[in-house]
Amino acid sequence: MTLNVSADGQIMDSLSRTLEKLEKDNKKKGSVKQVLLDGCVPFSHQVAGHKCGINNTGVLQHPDGTILKQLQPPPRGPREMHFYTQVYAKDCTDTRLLDLQQHLPKFYGTWAPRESPNELYLKLEDVTKRFSRPCIMDVKIGKRSYDPFASQEKRKEQISKYPLMEEIGFLLLGMRVYQIDSDSYITHDQFYGRSLGKDTIKNGLTRFFHNGQDLQRHAVSLIISKIRSILRWFESQTQLHFYASSLLLVYEGSPHTFNGWKHKRAEKGREHQQGEPQSNCNKPREALSVQGSLTHSHPYCHERNANGMCVGSVEVEHEEIGMGDKKQFGQEAVEVKMIDFAHVFPSNSPDEGYMFGLRNLLSTLEEILKD
Ligand SMILES: Nc1ncnc2c1ncn2[C@@H]1O[C@H](COP(=O)(O)OP(=O)(O)O)[C@@H](O)[C@H]1O
Ligand SMILES: [Mg+2]
Repeated sequence: MTLNVSADGQIMDSLSRTLEKLEKDNKKKGSVKQVLLDGCVPFSHQVAGHKCGINNTGVLQHPDGTILKQLQPPPRGPREMHFYTQVYAKDCTDTRLLDLQQHLPKFYGTWAPRESPNELYLKLEDVTKRFSRPCIMDVKIGKRSYDPFASQEKRKEQISKYPLMEEIGFLLLGMRVYQIDSDSYITHDQFYGRSLGKDTIKNGLTRFFHNGQDLQRHAVSLIISKIRSILRWFESQTQLHFYASSLLLVYEGSPHTFNGWKHKRAEKGREHQQGEPQSNCNKPREALSVQGSLTHSHPYCHERNANGMCVGSVEVEHEEIGMGDKKQFGQEAVEVKMIDFAHVFPSNSPDEGYMFGLRNLLSTLEEILKD
């Protein structure tokens, strides 16, 4: 696959320097979200991983609605880039890899600021994009979160972070959950996840599905079926092993939204550059926002241009449909994608560690449904 090292738009000096300035400005103004450079902003739906800071840009959101993940220092960053380019190679004929694509965010090549062409980012689909009130959880999967080439020191460090990884097979790295009554989110970070043991892990997972009023059972069962599908993929392949990789679980927290929503490609027939995300959501903000005080930070389309026009890639429409309507239980109310591939390695055996984690995660979710 030819790498798309694009420099779309007039951008910046060093992104890091600008972020430093941004942090200072934010502190002064007390504002949370600022437009950064070519319209890129820190991604507001990030729940774990390297965050935007002085020495790190974390995950950014591009004005076209995609996200940009800064390439980590070698060998991790190039390894992750290699993985995405391999799976999404145009000439790929490997059916296992082609099957895997459905479980990954779409990959749009690499991106770099025009004035810092060596500063590479992976350009990825934002899997939270179509949600109005996305409830998001990052779950690290596997028996081990260090790869076979890790030093003794690295192994020790990783094991000490969560000694139960071997037994439980997954770790909650972060979550945000929409609360209906307060129209706000509660969040939990990796330290919460690490505090969970065999007796409390089920309660920890349950929190992700509780909106302050009810347990969102429909979301639990839809997510179970998506994870089963990922497990089937793992059962069918022997060529890759995944370490310290995550599942990103998302479900719709708004009771008004998933109730009858539907998606369509806007501006059908409009030509788009192959492999590029579509920019087709041109409705004014008001036309798309839902009722509630969070519309400023969580509109349907997360990113808009200076005129308040949505520039996202999927148009979502509301329809008032009775609460009993079956559509609310549709697959589109949830998303499960594999992310974070800095430690993926070729192999010739099944990935038992990852499958162990998936199976334990599944049985814990099934337990939640029994209550
Ligand atoms: N494709 C994506 N769509 C939406 N959110 C994402 C996506 N990829 C990553 N994220 C968010 O960014 C966080 C960090 O991403 P990750 O790839 O795990 O980076 P790191 O290598 O820093 O751990 C995730 O926990 C998630 O919240
Ligand atoms: Mg991560």
